[in-house]
Amino acid sequence: MGQAGLFITFEGSEGCGKSTQIRHLSQFLRSLEREVVMLREPGATPIGESIRNLLQYDASASAMTPEAELFLFAASRAQLVREVIRPALARGAVVLCDRFLDSTTVYQGVARALDSGEVSRINDVAVGGTLPDLTLLLDLDAAEGRRRAATRAATTTGPTDRMEQEQESFYEAVREGYLKLAAEQSGRFVVVDASLDEEGVESAIRKVLRERFQIGGEEESHGIH
Ligand code: TMP
Repeated sequence: MGQAGLFITFEGSEGCGKSTQIRHLSQFLRSLEREVVMLREPGATPIGESIRNLLQYDASASAMTPEAELFLFAASRAQLVREVIRPALARGAVVLCDRFLDSTTVYQGVARALDSGEVSRINDVAVGGTLPDLTLLLDLDAAEGRRRAATRAATTTGPTDRMEQEQESFYEAVREGYLKLAAEQSGRFVVVDASLDEEGVESAIRKVLRERFQIGGEEESHGIH
């Protein structure tokens, strides 16, 4: 029988370094001959990428209500779970996803202040029981995250991201919301200090994988169970 699949999600506010760390981890896992599937939310399927474009860049989105936003994120996720994530896990792949249902819990449920029970029910419909084995929260001071995101925006071309135009208080609510959620679901979450340099964060993540799943440690030859 092949190896069991593993579903790892990355969460954190803008500028916390998720995508860089996903790249590092995927290279490492591939060096161990694991199949790695790298995904991002919203997006990662043709339907999801259209939804991403609508949510983040479409001119009409400035009039979008929080409820419509909630359903669009959920729609992208519902597609991704069934089209990509479940088949990948069934093959034994490691799925690394940049954001997943916790982003909705925090951004729409906490920062946009939608009803948390309703957000949770919509999340349940979208994921249909497919939950991460591990969620890495890259925790960073909100102001520092904004600084890093602004530096990145200044060095990339393209349209402005609607989701990055909020007030400072929005990102503070996001950070606090994540920390509270991680404390409530401490079995699934690990909080990583994202103020460390890139190598420091990378080695903290590798340590979590060694300890939780015996990946990259002495037991690696026995695979993931
Ligand atoms: P990012 O992946 O480049 O950070 O951009 C995604 C943006 O969308 C980010 O501002 C967070 C936001 N978002 C939500 O508000 N809810 C969600 O469910 C997801 C997946 C993302």
